[in-house]
Amino acid sequence: MSLLIQISDDRVFALSNTHFAYVFRVSPEGILEHLYYGGPLSDPLSAPRHHARMNRHVVPTFQGTPFYSLSDTPQECPAFGTSDHRFPAVHALNADGNNVFTWLYERHEIVDTKPPLDGLPSARGDGSKTLILTLKDSLHDLYAELSYTIWADYGVIARSVRFENKGAAVIDLKHVFSTTLNLPADDYEIQHFHGTWSREFNEERIPVPHGRFVAESARGTSSAAHNPYVAILQKGTTESFGRCYGTTLVYSGNFAISVERGEFEDVRVLAGINPFDFNWRLEPGGTFSAPEALHAYSGNGLRALSHQWHDFIRDRISPERFRHAPRPTYLNTWEAAYFDVDEAKVLSLADTAKQIGVDMLVLDDGWFDGREDDTSSLGDWRADPVRFPNGIPALAAQLKAKGLKFGIWFEPEMVNPKSQLYAAHPDWILHVPARTPSLGRHQLTLDLSRADVQDYLFGVIDAVLSCGDVDYVKWDMNRTMTEVGSAGLPKARQPEIAHRYMLGLYVLLDRLMAAYPDVLFENCASGGNRFDLGMLSYMPQGWISDMCDPVGRLAIIGGASHLFPLDVMAAYIGPSPNHQNGRVSSLRTRFLAGAFCAARGVSLNETDITADQSELTDWMAFAQRTKSDMVGGRFDRVKKTDDEVAWQYTTRDAQTVYLAYFHILSAPNMPARRVYCVGLEPTEDYRLDAGGAIYRGDALMQSGLPMPRVSIGEAAPDVTLMPAGDFSADLFVLRRI
Ligand code: GLA
Repeated sequence: MSLLIQISDDRVFALSNTHFAYVFRVSPEGILEHLYYGGPLSDPLSAPRHHARMNRHVVPTFQGTPFYSLSDTPQECPAFGTSDHRFPAVHALNADGNNVFTWLYERHEIVDTKPPLDGLPSARGDGSKTLILTLKDSLHDLYAELSYTIWADYGVIARSVRFENKGAAVIDLKHVFSTTLNLPADDYEIQHFHGTWSREFNEERIPVPHGRFVAESARGTSSAAHNPYVAILQKGTTESFGRCYGTTLVYSGNFAISVERGEFEDVRVLAGINPFDFNWRLEPGGTFSAPEALHAYSGNGLRALSHQWHDFIRDRISPERFRHAPRPTYLNTWEAAYFDVDEAKVLSLADTAKQIGVDMLVLDDGWFDGREDDTSSLGDWRADPVRFPNGIPALAAQLKAKGLKFGIWFEPEMVNPKSQLYAAHPDWILHVPARTPSLGRHQLTLDLSRADVQDYLFGVIDAVLSCGDVDYVKWDMNRTMTEVGSAGLPKARQPEIAHRYMLGLYVLLDRLMAAYPDVLFENCASGGNRFDLGMLSYMPQGWISDMCDPVGRLAIIGGASHLFPLDVMAAYIGPSPNHQNGRVSSLRTRFLAGAFCAARGVSLNETDITADQSELTDWMAFAQRTKSDMVGGRFDRVKKTDDEVAWQYTTRDAQTVYLAYFHILSAPNMPARRVYCVGLEPTEDYRLDAGGAIYRGDALMQSGLPMPRVSIGEAAPDVTLMPAGDFSADLFVLRRI
């Protein structure tokens, strides 16, 4: 292992490995000045500085130091109130009633691995080293510990910050961004992902504007409106060209990733808890830990950036126990029956599930006391006595007897006003005094900052899981938060609730994961409304969207794949016409759009399954055969035009290459199409499963693989055909020989 962290005598600090270097120093004034972040350097301690000290007009100099203004100094932990007018990483109100702080270097240490964060999920530290710098505001005895973790094998750096108030007076923390990234003046673009229910992960690329761009959430969850992932790209970046700097958070609540292009053109990226509607009261002796932020760097475009993220998330974020575990195929009751589920129907669906060869039956919403539609019963997690008279453990045992695994849906964080739980504990919801709480999907949010609520939820979930026959839990969360107040905390602490909610949720999840380490949890929030590395630290996979129409799904998976490996995604074949957008599409296209996700299944009623039984059986057999392949491999977006999408998936052992090709809208007289593979062994041969043609790796990458023609008109016998019409799809399997 090379030296991951180096420090020079004049206090230059360099974190570097074969993927990147990150360098900063302590200035003579004691300020932590950023020097360099980018590709690896053979001598990172001598990294050239990006900025020069000069007498700029108009800007103030820092506390009387000539030629030194923080206005144009890239800093690791910028504050407001001395000579920097940009949006700060840390902003606080001190006992004197002002918010002027100066963060000066105090000391540093290097530790092996990575200390856990107080009450927050974070990347696993094995194989890493962490540099911890302690900064101090001398006037108020407020300390900030900045942590930087680097691993030998990943192009990712983890950062976090922890505050400690060693003074005698209360300090109110108003902004606590976990990280600051500085990039020198250049032409950059912002890549971010926006959306809403059933339309998550739309990629947008815009030039970095002067002023500030903020991707953020104030909804209580990280949200589909803006996923907590932003990349700064060298202008003109493509899949295979350009310097890229990605930033995300291991956090599931209100976040902000702010990109500011200042008056001197350099760029500051801040990421952390959203300062809007936030305040944290730090009593004397108190500490506060901000969530972990992650940065990844690629000097070779978006494909390499995604690979950095995919490897890291799979190896250091996803629960270790499931890292390379093949996921069961499943039949989910939701789009098969919605709320109309009972024991007999589930058992019958289970028989059908068995016939088409899936591993697991998932009982979605509708199983608990009185839950006949979405207006009631969330909170009352007992099996409905009429529809499931024998209870869930008995049902699970019957499914086991049929040779199926069993999964069940919960939406633990919610309560309907029409429920026994709400009648008994009206003060357990998020609410503010004397205002009627707003409803979302007829439901209210439980106040997870309360220990009694966490205990209740552990108890009701444990009551179901403790039978030992539950293999999987779909953990849903179907509304955003409003009236975010708690009856459990004093007035001055109400602006802490949104974050305290997350800390409470993480406490509950820690308890559940410790009690049920072998249960596979799937993260869902109306689909992708909380698809982030905080949740995925606990749950190896997520229901990325309620959109199962294949065209919609292609965009969603394609967008999300910039950050997330497909190991963490679940997909099922839903009905056609699709229930969200009415599109009619073939079973083949519906399956193939999710074919490279680790977890694959079906959500169709028995009539639809029977109608397509043999094709469904074939696709589920394919899913069975390939389930070990679909964990730990390499996903690549190889083609995206207005009417085509092609994805390549290369297995972990690099022996098998799956290529899925989607043709969106049909047209007459189309040109011949090709797809160029990536990352193959240039001098190895690959045999195509269908037809047995053999191609050399370099030819597949340089000359491409011809795509089949749409079967309109006549074609010579050696031309492969695709089904005619819109939304067709094909799969090519290439095996290294
Ligand atoms: C959310 C989920 C769906 C389904 C329903 C059940 O919308 O995203 O998959 O579980 O809730 O109410």
